[in-house]
Amino acid sequence: MHDELKLLSGAMVTLALATSALVVVPFMQLKGLEPPKDLKPYTSAQLRGREVYIKNGCIYCHSQQPRDKSQAPDDKRGWGRASVAGDYSYDKPHLLGTMRTGPDLFNIGVRQPSQDWHLGHLYQPRAYTPGSIMPSYPFLFEVKEKADPGDRQLTLPPGYNPPGKIVVATQEVLDLVTYLQGLDHTYPVFEATETKKK
Ligand code: HEC
Repeated sequence: MHDELKLLSGAMVTLALATSALVVVPFMQLKGLEPPKDLKPYTSAQLRGREVYIKNGCIYCHSQQPRDKSQAPDDKRGWGRASVAGDYSYDKPHLLGTMRTGPDLFNIGVRQPSQDWHLGHLYQPRAYTPGSIMPSYPFLFEVKEKADPGDRQLTLPPGYNPPGKIVVATQEVLDLVTYLQGLDHTYPVFEATETKKK
């Protein structure tokens, strides 16, 4: 009985320490955090696009957390400054990601602002990046004989259009691209610079 008590209290202490280190302390540190003033809340189209991003598993290959210079050369890769907690104020759930099979996308809206490029790249990544291992997402597009009024027709590189047909974007992929174009966290965050100086 004596040993069981020791085991039980040991387990409780371990659990209490882990909970305070991983839940309570971070909560105390971040609870009063204001969103950076230049960070805009998502529009409804961007929020719909975010759902498409989640649904199609983009997070399995793309992170949204550029790291500090001391940890990785992310700034040299053109992925932007290291992210800070406030950057995620409107992200529920956050889409930090853990895998970087593809580039970090936290600032893709700045690096690649073109709607044409994004649409074409999602339809067929290999049309833009030869040998790309990113999957294509043909089910987010419609292949048609001719365009109807209001259709957003794709301009693909030569040889990628289905012969004699045209490719048009669905509302889903247009929303996804609006979300990607809006990913811009390049505004300055003074708090982060100040913390570093200390
Ligand atoms: C199997 C892994 C994988 C998945 C899943 C994936 N990607 Fe990619 N992605 C890549 C790779 C690898 C590249 C780099 C080559 C290229 O440009 O195609 C890339 C490149 C990109 C780029 C260009 C980045 C740059 O810096 O130029 C964008 C934008 C992008 N992906 C968006 C998406 C979106 C949106 C989804 C989900 C619909 C997605 N990816 C799903 C692997 C993936």
